[in-house]
Amino acid sequence: MLAELSPKLSVEIQRAAKLLTNPAPVCVLTGAGISAESGIPTFRDKQTGLWQRYRAEDLATPTAFVRDPKLVWSWYQWRRQLVHDKKPNAAHCALAKWQQMSKANHQSVTLITQNVDDLHEQAGSMVTHLHGHLWRNRCHDCGTPFENEVEALNSSKDAIYFDDELITCQHCGGYIRPDIVWFGESLPMQAWQTAEDAAASCKVFISIGTSSLVYPAAGLAQLAKQNGATIIEINPNPTPNTVVDITLAANAGIVMQLLIEQIDARS
Ligand code: OAD
Repeated sequence: MLAELSPKLSVEIQRAAKLLTNPAPVCVLTGAGISAESGIPTFRDKQTGLWQRYRAEDLATPTAFVRDPKLVWSWYQWRRQLVHDKKPNAAHCALAKWQQMSKANHQSVTLITQNVDDLHEQAGSMVTHLHGHLWRNRCHDCGTPFENEVEALNSSKDAIYFDDELITCQHCGGYIRPDIVWFGESLPMQAWQTAEDAAASCKVFISIGTSSLVYPAAGLAQLAKQNGATIIEINPNPTPNTVVDITLAANAGIVMQLLIEQIDARS
C-alpha cells in the first residue's frame, strides 16, 4: 500500500513510524478532519464546512443561546440527526489499535480530541474531550446534567428523530442545552489539565485533522515543541501550524492505517 503513495509521503510515513517505534510518550490531538471520512462535516473546509454555511456567532455562543434558544437547540438536534448513525473510520480504528498495542509495550499514547462526536470511543479508544460531548446535555442556568433521552423512535418510519422542542430543567426551569464548549466559554478544567500535561511531557506530538486555528487547543503543539517534542501533522491541506517537523499530507484514514502497520511491523 505504501507503494501507491507519492514517494515523498511514503518516505515521511516511514520516518514517522521509525520515530514512533521508540516507546516514548506520545500525545495525539484530533479535530473534525478525522471524522470527515465517516461522513461528518468539518467546520472550515471549503464548501462542506459547517462554518461556511452557518454563522458560529448565531449558533455556538452563550449569547446566541440566550437570544434564541430554539434556533440553537434545533441546530444541535439537526447535528445529532446527522451524526447518530455514523461509524468510526480507518483512522479512529488505527488509533484505537495503537493504544491497545502501546499498552503491551508500556508506552503512553494520550488521545485528546476537539470533536464532540463519540467515534473514538466507538472504535475502542480512551479519549479526553476538550470541547464537550454532543450526546450530553445540561441546564444552561444551573448546570445540572439532563440525563433523559432527547431522541425518539418514529414508529411509522422506524427511524430515530431528534425533536427540536425546547426542554426545561426540573430544578430551576432554565433551558437544557448541549454539553458543548461554545466560543467564549472555558474548557473543562480536568480535560485541559490532562491535555497540557500530555503535551508538555510527550516526545512526539501528532496533530490529526485540525485546522489549528482554535485556541487554546491549537497551542498544545507549541507547548509540546517548547518541551522538546517532535511534531507530526496529518492533514491533506496546509495549516498555520508553524512548529511541524513531519507533514503527512493526505487523508487521516489512509495515513493512520499505514503508520500503525509500519509501527506494528517494526516493534
Ligand atoms: P476545522 O473544520 O477547522 O478543520 C478541519 C481540518 O481537517 C482542516 O484543516 C482540513 O484540511 C482537515 N481535513 C479534512 N478532511 C480530512 C481528512 N480526511 N483527514 C485529515 N484531515 C482532514 O476543524 P477543527 O480544527 O476540529 O469548536 O476545529 C476546531 C474547533 O472549531 C471545533 O472543535 C469546533 C469549531 O468551531 C467547537 O465546536 C467549540
